[in-house]
Amino acid sequence: MTAASEKAPEKPSEREDLPPVPHGHVRLTIDDRVVDAPQGELLIRTCERLGIVVPRFCDHPLLDPAGACRQCLVEVEMGGRKMPKPQASCTMTVAQDMVVNTQMTSAVADKAQQGVMELLLINHPLDCPICDKGGECPLQNQAMSSGRADSRFVEEKRTFAKPLPISDEVLLDRERCVLCQRCTRFSRQIAGDQFIELLERGAHQQIGTEETAFGEGEDFQSYFSGNTIQICPVGALTSASYRFRSRPFDLVSTPGVSEHDSSGAAVRRDWRRGAVTRVLAGEDPDVNEEWIDDKTRFAFRYAQSATRITRPLVRGDDGELHETSWTDALERAAAALLAARDGTGPAPLDADGEPGEPKRGVGVLPGGRLTIEDAYAYAKFARAALQTNDIDARARAHSGEELDFLAAHVAGTGLGVTYADLESAPAVLTVALEVEEEAPVVFLRLRKAARTGTAVHHLGQWSSPAVVKTGGRLVRTAPGREPEALATLPDDVAAALATPGAVVLVGERAAEVPGLYAAVSDLVGRTGARVAWVPRRAGERGAVDAGALPTLLPGGRPVDDVARAQLASSWGLADENALPATPGRDGGAILRAAAAGELAGLVVGGVELTDLPDPVLARAALREADVVVSLEQVASEVTRYADVVLPVAPVVNKSGTFRNWEGRDRRFATTIDPSGGSSGRVGGTAAITLPDCRVLDTLAVEMDVDLFTQTPEVAAAELGHLGAARPTEIGPVRGPDGSGDVDGTDGSLRLASWRQLLDGGALLIDEPELAGTARPPKIRISTVTARRLGLVEDAVAGLEGPRGSLHLPVELADLPDDVVWAPARVPQAGGGVITLAGLGLTHGGPARLTGGTTDGSAA
Ligand code: SF4
Ligand code: FES
Repeated sequence: MTAASEKAPEKPSEREDLPPVPHGHVRLTIDDRVVDAPQGELLIRTCERLGIVVPRFCDHPLLDPAGACRQCLVEVEMGGRKMPKPQASCTMTVAQDMVVNTQMTSAVADKAQQGVMELLLINHPLDCPICDKGGECPLQNQAMSSGRADSRFVEEKRTFAKPLPISDEVLLDRERCVLCQRCTRFSRQIAGDQFIELLERGAHQQIGTEETAFGEGEDFQSYFSGNTIQICPVGALTSASYRFRSRPFDLVSTPGVSEHDSSGAAVRRDWRRGAVTRVLAGEDPDVNEEWIDDKTRFAFRYAQSATRITRPLVRGDDGELHETSWTDALERAAAALLAARDGTGPAPLDADGEPGEPKRGVGVLPGGRLTIEDAYAYAKFARAALQTNDIDARARAHSGEELDFLAAHVAGTGLGVTYADLESAPAVLTVALEVEEEAPVVFLRLRKAARTGTAVHHLGQWSSPAVVKTGGRLVRTAPGREPEALATLPDDVAAALATPGAVVLVGERAAEVPGLYAAVSDLVGRTGARVAWVPRRAGERGAVDAGALPTLLPGGRPVDDVARAQLASSWGLADENALPATPGRDGGAILRAAAAGELAGLVVGGVELTDLPDPVLARAALREADVVVSLEQVASEVTRYADVVLPVAPVVNKSGTFRNWEGRDRRFATTIDPSGGSSGRVGGTAAITLPDCRVLDTLAVEMDVDLFTQTPEVAAAELGHLGAARPTEIGPVRGPDGSGDVDGTDGSLRLASWRQLLDGGALLIDEPELAGTARPPKIRISTVTARRLGLVEDAVAGLEGPRGSLHLPVELADLPDDVVWAPARVPQAGGGVITLAGLGLTHGGPARLTGGTTDGSAA
């Protein structure tokens, strides 16, 4: 009988015993199993869904397919005919009635995979026992599962000088590389940093930087470089800070959340003997997908720093801080705070040496790095124990206008604009937000959105890397003129923002420009665009919802009788009169009052004085206060002024929740329990430090007040029970009367500024490799301004403010004329930082530029 007379096998799409093929899908057979797959799906993904693991190296679900390594070969039959060669399943999409046989059912596919593996191992050094990737290496694993037991290669292997430092943080061992191009594709597609490339051809093909190939060019400078280490399927890319430190099977892995910004990015902390050895990106499709920035990845040693405070300290009669017991420290802090609250402390002497009016009251500055549970404890401690609304978590430039904005658009609003919304938005406008520097994970999502058609607009002064890498359009304006620029947006930008789904992202720096928050509020009212507030620090959003602000109580409640009565009842107080009746002072006013002798005490959380808008005022306030109680992890400038220092736990030693910029709660468990905890794993830190909420709870008990925040879980439950209670009527966001003077008529320039990601911040201590990857600080001016001032590119210029100057190299950029841009904070070679605020300079304010020295130091 001829083949033609045989009954042809029925196509799976035509089989009557199966339901119809769903719309938008195709039906195919893989390893004798019929499966429906969405049109366009890659074959390797369909196999994954069936639980069939096809070996692969270059394939990554978040990168465009490359077909570079050929490890994923499978046999494919189309239209009843087998394709002549095995096909790469990571580049081929599914098709109707396709028949696929993987290595599980095809000897041809299996042999092809073994052949590719043999080829990949030809030049591989097989140095697994000394390779950082050993034990978690896809090449090692797949060589076992899909490789041959022996090798026919007897020639000499290709070798390279090693390791090649392609940045201070990333080291390359080229002989281990399997040329999968994951690193280059990540750099080009995800981060937008094209410094790492595939060089040469054939047997000489290798990964490197331009410098590797041509002896010149740039280092691999990227805020996201660590992701290439994590996705490299072999040990070709390793990190200088982790290299040879540990084996993966010696580490305990604990999921966590980034404490470095408001992204809420998922991380995995690997640790042993009480110390974190590395941080990896966790997977969360809704938030960070699989990516984190280098600050989140590499800045973790602060928790293990020699400057970590591990015992309570009290200031003795000799003026020095001395270690003491928790009991003694808490008793002294409580007694001093009660005296300060009630004005029963020693009266200051007046000009005639006579006792004057005693100071009264305590201000609370919790800082912006708190979990929501800790922020809630500060909020409750201020109201219930200190009987004040003088509390402000904003350790940065802030304003009353910002409080209005937060009340109207943020506090108690729950989950708002999400990462997914950014990805699908037709248009996004960033305002006072340099997204790559201040919210790097948001930047990655915006870049992804831009690659698929989102029009990204940036209100700013120059075409910064974030503008370029998001394919963005710069709406250029002079610093300080942002409100006018929003009011007079180009018609097409305004029209884009009026498209359903458009988003305005506003950063905390809007507080530096009077009228900008009001202008944003007006813009979103006018266009219908959704608005999201993207602060820099991890705890800022939680602090708003927890009530760690002078005008907002927990859950977005205003300071009014209704809210006070609700809280008094929930908190078990006699009546609302036990709670303060009027809005409190903001952070600046608290410091001014303390410096002027009007406030007797300060409770300070994780606040760096150099982060504050007026560090000089802050020092005066701490000096003048009768009592300063500091809750700190690591010795800081505040420690120098503190009367009592209560050591608190860093994120690795406690549980909690960061509420991210979206309003999404990101809970995490304790990574390392210094006491050993129920796990019995004893941590290595010398002393047990406690979460802020526990310390405040115990301190309040000493003051005869119950906070009921003894654990983060209890605090979270109470805050959850309180819930949000936004008033039905919320007032407008009030800008200033009239606009400020921003004309450079006095011959000065106008200053524009923001913070760079790696700038010597408090959590970056003891990270020399990471610091080496920071963007070099520069002063930027336009060509016209440079010519007028007689400056040329790379010349060192002095930026002068009322309190000193800063010298940095000049770079020419497309700024408006008579505007100078400089980073807000510049670490100094010998330690310490210079901040523009410390020099008396502000965004939008006047500044002078002079030809300077060549050493780049501060005057
Ligand atoms: Fe792939 Fe790693 Fe080589 Fe890059 S360095 S091409 S990620 S094997
Ligand atoms: Fe398919 Fe590399 S995983 S070619």
